[in-house]
Amino acid sequence: MSSLSHWGLHAALLALLCCSESSEAAFEVHTWPERLVVENGGSRTVNCSTSCANPVTGGLETTLDKTLLEEQPQWKSFRISNVSQDTVLFCYFTCAGEQQSKSLNVSTYQVPKQIILQLQPVWVTLGKPFTIECRVPAVKPLESLTLTLFRGKETLHSQTFSGGATDPQEARVTVNSTASKEDGLLNFSCQAELDLRSRGGGILRNISENKVLQVYEPPPENQMVIIVTVVSVLLFLFVMSVLLCFVFGQHWRQRRMGTYGVRAAWRRLPQVFRVQHM
Ligand SMILES: *[C@@H]1O[C@H](CO)[C@@H](O)[C@H](O)[C@H]1NC(C)=O
Ligand SMILES: *[C@@H]1O[C@H](CO)[C@@H](O)[C@H](O)[C@H]1NC(C)=O
Ligand SMILES: *[C@@H]1O[C@H](CO)[C@@H](O)[C@H](O)[C@H]1NC(C)=O
Ligand SMILES: *[C@@H]1O[C@H](CO)[C@@H](O)[C@H](O)[C@H]1NC(C)=O
Ligand SMILES: *[C@@H]1O[C@H](CO)[C@@H](O)[C@H](O)[C@H]1NC(C)=O
Ligand SMILES: *[C@@H]1O[C@H](CO)[C@@H](O)[C@H](O)[C@H]1NC(C)=O
Repeated sequence: MSSLSHWGLHAALLALLCCSESSEAAFEVHTWPERLVVENGGSRTVNCSTSCANPVTGGLETTLDKTLLEEQPQWKSFRISNVSQDTVLFCYFTCAGEQQSKSLNVSTYQVPKQIILQLQPVWVTLGKPFTIECRVPAVKPLESLTLTLFRGKETLHSQTFSGGATDPQEARVTVNSTASKEDGLLNFSCQAELDLRSRGGGILRNISENKVLQVYEPPPENQMVIIVTVVSVLLFLFVMSVLLCFVFGQHWRQRRMGTYGVRAAWRRLPQVFRVQHM
């Protein structure tokens, strides 16, 4: 409905334009700014002016909410508010029975308020794959967006998008990688950049929180072999020493007991000898 009335309005204006253009225009109409980019739901000031010294009428044609802020014979300044869709405004003036108008393209943008960076898995073995995903739930215009993945200060991946949708869209970039030592030392981050220069705006940037990848480094193969060998040797020596202690202990006891036997026999010997002689 609103777009129909919008186009009806344009048709009426174009009809006016066609008739006035046939006769050479003696005056000009300007808009300031010449291009306008507004945050979704935002408000801006538009200035319509003319070179006609004494215009009869003038104004701003729009379906948006507008308020006249200030006026002088040669200009009128308006505040347009609640801009939620791309639209075209028309500034017009009538001078000596002639009407002139000038169009002003208004585009809306949605800043990437939320930038979600995820590493999956968060804990990864050296040389094994992991995924970096960056997601912006709502952004507009998508074709002005660049998502860049960083590892520390180094750019890992940069992606632009094609769009054209009138509503804020989700943007997502996914990169597969294999874990290196450096991945575990540096922060990962994701930057969203909205370049509105071609639409009369600036560059808006925002960056995600830093994310850290835990890289697990298994000990190398030959190191494992050395560890196993050393442990086996130590275990063997321990077992051997226990065994030797036991064997020597037994031997020593036997020797001591053996000595007592001989001595006792030695002591008993003269007695027997004596008894035999008596
Ligand atoms: C509107 O534009 C005219 C012509 O450029 C200028 O003289 C005037 O100061 C402007 N008004 C405002 C409020 O900016
Ligand atoms: C802004 O516009 C939207 C739809 O275009 C409407 O639902 C909303 O009520 C408007 N807000 C204000 C404050 O006018
Ligand atoms: C306004 O937008 C139309 C298309 O929607 C385009 O053809 C035209 O060049 C634009 N004008 C300006 C001044 O950017
Ligand atoms: C920038 O992004 C962060 C993280 O997603 C968010 O908390 C912050 O509000 C954003 N800033 C702006 C100005 O949108
Ligand atoms: C990343 O790997 C997953 C499976 O692990 C696959 O589904 C996906 O298509 C890959 N993405 C890219 C960009 O290579
Ligand atoms: C990683 O980010 C944290 C904060 O998010 C910061 O304190 C730390 O210094 C960063 N580390 C590197 C290596 O940049």
